[in-house]
Amino acid sequence: MKIAVLGATGQTGQQLVSQALQQGHIVTAIVRNPEKLTTAHDNLKVVEGNIFSEDSLKPHFKDQDAVMSCLGFPPSVLGGVTGYTESMTATLGAMREARVNRIITMTSWYTEPNSGSKASFFVRNMLLPMIRSVLSNMYEMEQHLQKTEDINWTVIRPPGLKNIPVTENKFLTHEGCYVPDEKGYPIGQTISRADVARFMLSQLTNSSWIKKAVAIITK
Ligand SMILES: NC(=O)c1ccc[n+]([C@@H]2O[C@H](COP(=O)([O-])OP(=O)(O)OC[C@H]3O[C@@H](n4cnc5c(N)ncnc54)[C@H](OP(=O)(O)O)[C@@H]3O)[C@@H](O)[C@H]2O)c1
Repeated sequence: MKIAVLGATGQTGQQLVSQALQQGHIVTAIVRNPEKLTTAHDNLKVVEGNIFSEDSLKPHFKDQDAVMSCLGFPPSVLGGVTGYTESMTATLGAMREARVNRIITMTSWYTEPNSGSKASFFVRNMLLPMIRSVLSNMYEMEQHLQKTEDINWTVIRPPGLKNIPVTENKFLTHEGCYVPDEKGYPIGQTISRADVARFMLSQLTNSSWIKKAVAIITK
């Protein structure tokens, strides 16, 4: 398949690009710093683009089968985070113009306010308050996608990300803000970035999670 990747220079994005190439996909990485992407491959095109501009993205989306996003923005105490919603608005607009109908994007566990009430003490009282500005904007973006009927979107929600090699472990999935055990408590806290990329790529040929937000973790 032909896929356009946003956030391709990031830690998950680089995993996604290299696994996509290994799987035989043709990848266009739309980046702001081309020199940051060190992978070279005949099926990889690296282009400069502005993720907040529909006009900038549109030509790069032409003839693509899907857009995949691993974009990330840092927490902000004062101004709030707007990168997720602003880039998604431009992305959806450019997809419509370029007639691309599929997007697979990532957010996080616990985007919905109060969804972390059963998380560990540390996660509930330290981590979530620290990253609330990021989670809030991710949630706003998810809400926007929930109202989007003309595009086949999938939101992948992973827990804490770790830089460990890809595994062959099975995925546990749940249509919700985290993956619960039988008592409703979260199963585990972390996942390999490479496994997140593996799950995202599996969605190119799987329609089960179209127009859904799915929390994932590996077994
Ligand atoms: N850390 C965790 O434990 C955790 C847990 C769950 C979910 N998440 C979320 O998962 C996602 C991926 O995380 P990650 O750690 O792989 O991300 P990352 O390494 O921080 O990469 C972020 C990517 O977004 C790009 N980006 C940021 N601002 C941009 C801008 N203004 N214009 C163009 N590109 C921009 C970066 O480009 P440059 O390389 O040019 O900077 C980079 O490619 C993030 O949304 C993160 O919040 C993280």
